[in-house]
Amino acid sequence: MLLKQAISCLCRNNLYKNPLLKNYSLIATVLKSQLGETAEVKGWVKNLRVQKEHIFADVYDGSSAEKLQIIIPKALKTDTLTYGSSVNITGKITKSPRGQLELTAEDVKVIGQCIVMDGYPFNPRTAHPPEYVRQFLHLRSRTNYISAMLRVRHSITKHIHDYFYERNYTHIHTPILTSNDCEGAGEVFKVEPDNEETIKAMMQEGKNRETVYFGKKTYLTVSGQLHLEAICRGMGNVYTLGPTFRAENSRSRLHLSEFYMLEAELAFCDTLEKLKLTIEDLLKYIFIETRNTNEADLFLLDKNNKAPKWLDKNFVTVTYEEAKNLLQKKGKNASEDGLNKDEELALVEICQGVPVFVVEWPKNLKSFYMKESTSNSSMVDALDLLTPITGEMVGGSLREDDYMKLKHKLPSDSLNWYLDLRKFGNIPTGGFGLGLERLMQVVCSVSNIKDTLPFPRWPHNCDM
Ligand code: 4AD
Ligand code: MG
Repeated sequence: MLLKQAISCLCRNNLYKNPLLKNYSLIATVLKSQLGETAEVKGWVKNLRVQKEHIFADVYDGSSAEKLQIIIPKALKTDTLTYGSSVNITGKITKSPRGQLELTAEDVKVIGQCIVMDGYPFNPRTAHPPEYVRQFLHLRSRTNYISAMLRVRHSITKHIHDYFYERNYTHIHTPILTSNDCEGAGEVFKVEPDNEETIKAMMQEGKNRETVYFGKKTYLTVSGQLHLEAICRGMGNVYTLGPTFRAENSRSRLHLSEFYMLEAELAFCDTLEKLKLTIEDLLKYIFIETRNTNEADLFLLDKNNKAPKWLDKNFVTVTYEEAKNLLQKKGKNASEDGLNKDEELALVEICQGVPVFVVEWPKNLKSFYMKESTSNSSMVDALDLLTPITGEMVGGSLREDDYMKLKHKLPSDSLNWYLDLRKFGNIPTGGFGLGLERLMQVVCSVSNIKDTLPFPRWPHNCDM
């Protein structure tokens, strides 16, 4: 044990000391350093203010929501030092009259100049509207808004993994290519080779075009749930966090063609109550941890962003029937096929902005794998969690574990493997899927989902 520790300590120290790895300081670190220390920073100039003897440069490097102000003696200014340029600056850490740490430059190198007049789309000290910024996906990370968003996203991802790691769930990489349409909603993207030579060669083996490559129709995944269920029935609690694809013809502020879904499958889960408690606990954990890790980013994204008032309240639960009645009382004439977005948001408002679980859904509105309620065979033990801003953020259910019932509902023979799971040492399970971008919308108070990920894809838009 001691030897193991000594070796790991040695390796770490050696790597840390390697000058190739530690040849400059991140701005996040500089902003916490001591006065008088020397620091070398590398980053991008966002703004320059020319004064009598000095130039003040605001430099960001992605490590912090806060800028590092650098005081550059005029003698060190070159023509290529403009906003948008990338720089390498060495200097001494000093303090501004306002008490802010800053760097007084002793050496300034422009790494890459920015040809501002040749189409650089962002102006200094300007809050460009999100629709404008979205036209420049390749340059968008230069804006404070998007870089703050991406830091929050990075932290939320870590908090999700921490949450499940601490609770002994195993992270499973479910496949992106799949032969099943888990949700059965006809929203799959088909996958085929885009190479006529390959297709021709494989067709000679007696297959049709659509199935030529894999021997069956193949899609981009709409959910890793069925694969998770398979692993769960051998390994216990599992989860996955990965790209998910839906060919919905929706350009709404809540839909993407490619998004990230967190899905968890809980072993030996036989009540919706357990599922609900897990979702509520997870969400509160993420909100609290993100406020701790990314306070400055959240402030930058929305100066009024406060901890939501529901953090110390219990989430509300209503049945689908109750939800419809509540909406009717508010004059919302309920549609028959589920809850539309308006109704979802109205329901959250009726519940005073506290997230609300809608449970006990009519079977015909939900997917084949959901467990028939023991009390009413026309209902399933399903839940949707509705939140402010997005309406539905989570969808989940107990899974049908009765072999015969599942056999009757199975949409295709190609899912016989899924039925098999109920034959060999089956267990009750339940699980849920949470849209990471919708979670981001609520954490960051962002109305349009397209601004919660670096490269959004939606109908007619797949730039880069
Ligand atoms: O409700 P959904 O369709 O549930 C499932 O896919 C289940 N198989 C999950 C499970 O039980 N393992 O999708 C889950 C969540 C939605 O509540 C929503 O937050 C998000 O995924 N989502 C989308 N997010 C962005 N763009 C889209 N087009 C989305 N479709 C679903
Ligand atoms: Mg759903």
